Amino acid sequence: MIYPIVVYGDPILKKKARNIEQGELDVKQLSADMFETMESARGIGLAAPQIGKSIRMFVVDGRPLEEEEMENFVKVFINPQIIEEVGEEWPFEEGCLSIPNIREEVSRNAKLKINYFDVDWNEHTEEYDGMKARIIQHEYDHIEGVLFTDHLTPFKRRMLKGKLQNISKGKTKVDYRIAVPVIK
Ligand code: NI
Repeated sequence: MIYPIVVYGDPILKKKARNIEQGELDVKQLSADMFETMESARGIGLAAPQIGKSIRMFVVDGRPLEEEEMENFVKVFINPQIIEEVGEEWPFEEGCLSIPNIREEVSRNAKLKINYFDVDWNEHTEEYDGMKARIIQHEYDHIEGVLFTDHLTPFKRRMLKGKLQNISKGKTKVDYRIAVPVIK
């Protein structure tokens, strides 16, 4: 099932997501739906809040980047916890399916160690660096209620204000289904 993608301005994107309890929901079905939704929008990562679910889960698929190290980077992270982030910060221009048509440079630590569960509820602790770490950090931010725009300088954010407001009103060109926030 392809979900519409929640976009900038929806309060769910600013909320810290809660852990999933084992057996509470069908994580295999949900991850399949999240992969399908991500692929339909040609993303490389998608977090549950982006489909309107405030739970700690995200999926990644680095294969569209067409780099050798990304060939097997297709994973589901359930109840992840970043244990440490180390290494020099490096800048990279990030985008987000919830913030269409905006790309900005964000600096992040080069390496991380993360603990998480897979869809069979096996626990893992792994280390990542480079683009893999970058994708994980971006998706992890989503379940913490943080968007890449939150990392920008106040000046940069002011420059983007109009564009971001347009996104929250659904006034942006996207070729995948989005869920425009309900303005109360
Ligand atoms: Ni994103």
